[in-house]
Amino acid sequence: MSTTLPLETPVEAPQLLGNSESMVALRALLRRVAATDSTVLVQGESGTGKELVARLLHAWSSRAARPFVAVNCGAIPGELMESELFGHERGAFTGAQAARKGRFELAGRGTLFLDEVAEMSPPLQVKLLRVLQERCFERVGGSETLPAAARIVAATHRDLEQLIDLGRFREDLYYRLHVVPIRIPALRERGEDILLLAEHALRELEASGLGHVRLGDGVQQALLAYHWPGNVRELHNLMERLVILHGGGTVQLRDLPQKMQGAQALPPVQPLETGAEEGGDAANDGLQDLMQLVSEPDEPVLPAQGIDLRAYLERIERSLIEQALAASHHVIAHAAARLGLRRTTLVEKIRKYNLREHAEAAGE
Ligand SMILES: Nc1ncnc2c1ncn2[C@@H]1O[C@H](COP(=O)(O)OP(=O)(O)OP(=O)(O)O)[C@@H](O)[C@H]1O
Ligand SMILES: [Mg+2]
Repeated sequence: MSTTLPLETPVEAPQLLGNSESMVALRALLRRVAATDSTVLVQGESGTGKELVARLLHAWSSRAARPFVAVNCGAIPGELMESELFGHERGAFTGAQAARKGRFELAGRGTLFLDEVAEMSPPLQVKLLRVLQERCFERVGGSETLPAAARIVAATHRDLEQLIDLGRFREDLYYRLHVVPIRIPALRERGEDILLLAEHALRELEASGLGHVRLGDGVQQALLAYHWPGNVRELHNLMERLVILHGGGTVQLRDLPQKMQGAQALPPVQPLETGAEEGGDAANDGLQDLMQLVSEPDEPVLPAQGIDLRAYLERIERSLIEQALAASHHVIAHAAARLGLRRTTLVEKIRKYNLREHAEAAGE
């Protein structure tokens, strides 16, 4: 055995930006947790920075010079996942022509990031549980017991407790992973970070040579009012798009996606088409409340030529339902609660607007 360990060049710690109270507290928590070997479960909506947090835990730990190995448990087919995690010996299965190290072995005494851990198949959940309990494993088809010395950071955007109730995630594994739970708040819950992150993204884009844009009147308010279901990733993508489309100029409210303008003011009204059908099922649950919500602070103005009220209201309703589904990870019961609707009413509306692919099938 060699006396000096092969060390990787330490990676520069990524920046977890944010001045909101919750982000300041999160950075302090990460500093403390980074100094330990405890297993960490990072939870947060899509795009909130779960991987960033995992990398930061590694970069701030004494393992920083060792490997950081990430594995996306949702991206690799179930039958390949065991060998992906634990490696295999030559001839362990058809096609295993050479022995191969798995991610546990590659991570060594570094950090192993189990991303999308909720997607792991039930048999593999059992195997992972055993490794976390015994801190050792064997390659597929192998008999030698190898140490599992990596620090484990798992992440998911799903509600694991709900998956446990549904019988899709093992409770014992949950408790093994949940030693130090870290929840990253959604961007909409820390409004003051929205503009800071937007400005930072714009500065980075400028530094990378893509150009600069200014945010014109009303744009900042629209960004603050929007609900950001895709969180920081969505914000970054929007800033990049704005720089590409409006580099050197000023972004106006009308340049933002329609759904962001809707958070501040109602979508532009469509003139009434002659012969447009009237009435129908306009008496929608809670629609009056929704109207009030989205029409503030701007009062909608009825154009002189009139509008197709039903189509107009449906656009608002559809948009809010899509937003509620996205913000609830497509769990219908949760989306219904956000909208103040009965679940069955929401299911009807999802059918009406043909949004089925957005709703979790199991929720039906
Ligand atoms: N607080 C933050 N400061 C700076 N950048 C951030 C912050 N949070 C997230 N980001 C950036 O946003 C993007 C998304 O972050 P990341 O990939 O870590 O999210 P995630 O929670 O893992 O998303 P998903 O659930 O989709 O996998 C990355 O480019 C990341 O660097
Ligand atoms: Mg991720």
